[in-house]
Amino acid sequence: MLMKMNLMGIRIFFIILIMLWLSSSAFAAYGGGSAKPPPSPSHSPPRRVRCQLRQYPACYQAWHLCPSICSTSCLVDCVTCRPICSCDNPGAVCQDPRFVGGDGNTFYFHGHKDQDFCLLSDANLHINAHFIGKRDPSMNRDFTWVQSISVIFNSHNLFIAAKTTSIWDDNIDHFVLSFDANSISLPPVEGSSWKSPSAPVVSITRAGRDTNFIAAEVEGSFRVTALVVPISEKESRAHGYNITADNCFAHLELGFKFYNLSDMVDGILGQTYRKNYVTRAKIGAKMPVLGGADKFLSSSIFATDCLASRYGKN
Ligand SMILES: *[C@@H]1O[C@H](CO)[C@@H](O)[C@H](O)[C@H]1NC(C)=O
Ligand SMILES: *[C@@H]1O[C@H](CO)[C@@H](O)[C@H](O)[C@H]1NC(C)=O
Repeated sequence: MLMKMNLMGIRIFFIILIMLWLSSSAFAAYGGGSAKPPPSPSHSPPRRVRCQLRQYPACYQAWHLCPSICSTSCLVDCVTCRPICSCDNPGAVCQDPRFVGGDGNTFYFHGHKDQDFCLLSDANLHINAHFIGKRDPSMNRDFTWVQSISVIFNSHNLFIAAKTTSIWDDNIDHFVLSFDANSISLPPVEGSSWKSPSAPVVSITRAGRDTNFIAAEVEGSFRVTALVVPISEKESRAHGYNITADNCFAHLELGFKFYNLSDMVDGILGQTYRKNYVTRAKIGAKMPVLGGADKFLSSSIFATDCLASRYGKN
């Protein structure tokens, strides 16, 4: 018994010694206790998220860590009480931009940097997105990300944007928010919320985090979660974005839910919610791309004039 314990102790001692000797820096990155090493030392720690819906008391307010495959963008599914990747659900608009349509199919849309495109257009709801990006000289197209959205409904306008920034600090809030051209100040404290005095069906809440994550809702019409994220050095290297230190291309990752769409709905994302929608993107391709940029181009972020516009029509 004593012998056995001694032997085990010696073994453990040697294993630790070898690990330290092989990669002292990598060992330090383990934090001593976690089961898996992070993919790289610059990898940001997983985000903490929680369910904010009181009607799920078993799950309400319990913290979860995002899974490693989407360590910075996940949310809690209050029904199953598990964290899920927020960019994999229908209504997601993430990365450069990758969409998950209402039909469940994933596709990419190649717009142009510094231009505006209509994401969704229906009789009483219109959503534009402003694209920022970088020219990719080798591919003759732009890498693009959604910097802001403008939501138009009942003659109101809700504007949600990521602030241009050079060095990313996740403890600093990077949202610019306004309603009918009046800026909204929302304290960077988890749970703080804002309601429009003129249109009380509109609300914005910091859901689950102090900074860089909000949920906005227009009762009976839609809900959107918006996360501000930078392009990390790692992503820049992996995709050849060539991001420089003066701008980290802070952008939005969005998750929409719609409650009241008509079957005439159009727009890059909107059209995928029609009952008989058949995607034109090649499903099964590594990168199914949806064309039609000219149909969705908007003259400004606040205009409802894209060719696909349905706004104000019945
Ligand atoms: C739902 O859609 C109908 C028809 O477009 C519209 O009249 C109504 O205002 C919408 N309700 C909300 C809450 O947006
Ligand atoms: C990367 O960007 C910098 C500044 O925008 C530019 O000078 C350089 O040529 C770019 N490099 C490549 C490989 O595209």
